[in-house]
Amino acid sequence: MKYKEAADVEQKRKVMLVFGTRPEAIKMCPLVNELKSRPGIETVVCVTGQHREMLDMVLRTFHVEPKYDLAIMKDRQTLYDIATGILTGIKDVLEQEKPDVVLVHGDTSTTFFTALAAFYQRIPVGHVEAGLRTYNIYSPYPEEFNRQAVTILTRFNFAPTETARQNLLREQRDDRTIYVTGNTGIDALRTTVRADYTHPELQWAADSRMILIEVHRRENLGAPMERMFRAIRRVSEEHPDIKVIYPIHMNPAVREIARAELSGCERIHLIEPLDVLDFHNFEARCHLIMTDSGGIQEEAPSLGKPVLVMRDTTERPEGVAAGTLKLVGTDEETIYENFKLLLEDEAAYAAMSEASNPYGDGFASKRIADILERELEDTHGTLGI
Ligand code: UD1
Ligand code: UDP
Repeated sequence: MKYKEAADVEQKRKVMLVFGTRPEAIKMCPLVNELKSRPGIETVVCVTGQHREMLDMVLRTFHVEPKYDLAIMKDRQTLYDIATGILTGIKDVLEQEKPDVVLVHGDTSTTFFTALAAFYQRIPVGHVEAGLRTYNIYSPYPEEFNRQAVTILTRFNFAPTETARQNLLREQRDDRTIYVTGNTGIDALRTTVRADYTHPELQWAADSRMILIEVHRRENLGAPMERMFRAIRRVSEEHPDIKVIYPIHMNPAVREIARAELSGCERIHLIEPLDVLDFHNFEARCHLIMTDSGGIQEEAPSLGKPVLVMRDTTERPEGVAAGTLKLVGTDEETIYENFKLLLEDEAAYAAMSEASNPYGDGFASKRIADILERELEDTHGTLGI
């Protein structure tokens, strides 16, 4: 064996993971820790800091220390702020590290602009949670654009489900680039829910049916969010046997609407965002969840918790098919009626409370690491798209 070839064989493959918001961190940290356990892989973490406090909470929980932090977050940032912050900050990081592959997750602005920056340097991109679609470019906004655009330049599509794979095939993606792995969010859930868990807020709600709220989507800011909160407040005032807990997202625009519509009701607690370990345990113990969040739609089916999804579209049809999720839109009366129904009709509630596993068995990170180990080794790090 020539000297150069021997050196190539011994050289570790460098995998860089880039993420910036709470949900990306929750779903990428299990993968970071899995990749770190592989001797043939050098794992480098770069966070964009699109979120700050909510990102740092997750990093602490999973003991992940980024090598780079672009720290781009601004108060009430616009989509332009995030775009320019990432493109400016990540160029030098990619030039310096020259990774064999850059992994991004899902559909945030961090996801799209990081993938674009990697493409500009001809670095192969791996997309974790690839293939989710609503095919409505404004719903969710701007996430549907982000994930579709990332697909065009992705070399490794890690699709969580067969449905996601079929979406990618319909868009003429090469089947050899698609791997059905399950969702790494379920990997996280496997490590957080504990039988002996307790929390003061859960003790407060212990004598009632506990309703968990998480609402934050950009397209719902303003009137749609006001309608959701009004419906929740009306039902809460009419049902003395429920208590509502809403760990409010740190977006000040969300907080203003939540406080205006929901404060002053003694059975509704507006609290700070929960650590992921706490939130998962709250989910496991609640009666039902009302949300516009994406990740929660994946977690609830395996916990057997009914979710009223306050959106017009969902990219998670597997949870709807499983019966756990119901899409109720953002109309006040429709949310009010569906919320009441689940509280008052035992059969309707029971039909939505069957636990199921459409998003995987909790070993998605292991599968992704296996694939990367194999593929990067085969090609000696010289992958094209
Ligand atoms: C972002 C993602 C969205 C994802 C959501 C998860 C984009 C365009 N949006 O939306 O896809 O579903 O994260 O939560 O990528 N803030 C803080 N501290 C934090 C986090 C946010 O103060 O730790 C405040 C800041 O004022 C910030 C604002 O919230 O400007 C909005 O954050 P941003 O990332 O722009 O939007 P999200 O609605 O969080
Ligand atoms: N989550 C959390 N603390 C909270 C609320 C939610 O850790 O107070 C977790 C939740 O379990 C899920 C993820 O955050 O894993 C969802 O993130 P978010 O709703 O911010 O974004 P989306 O999934 O809609 O992109």
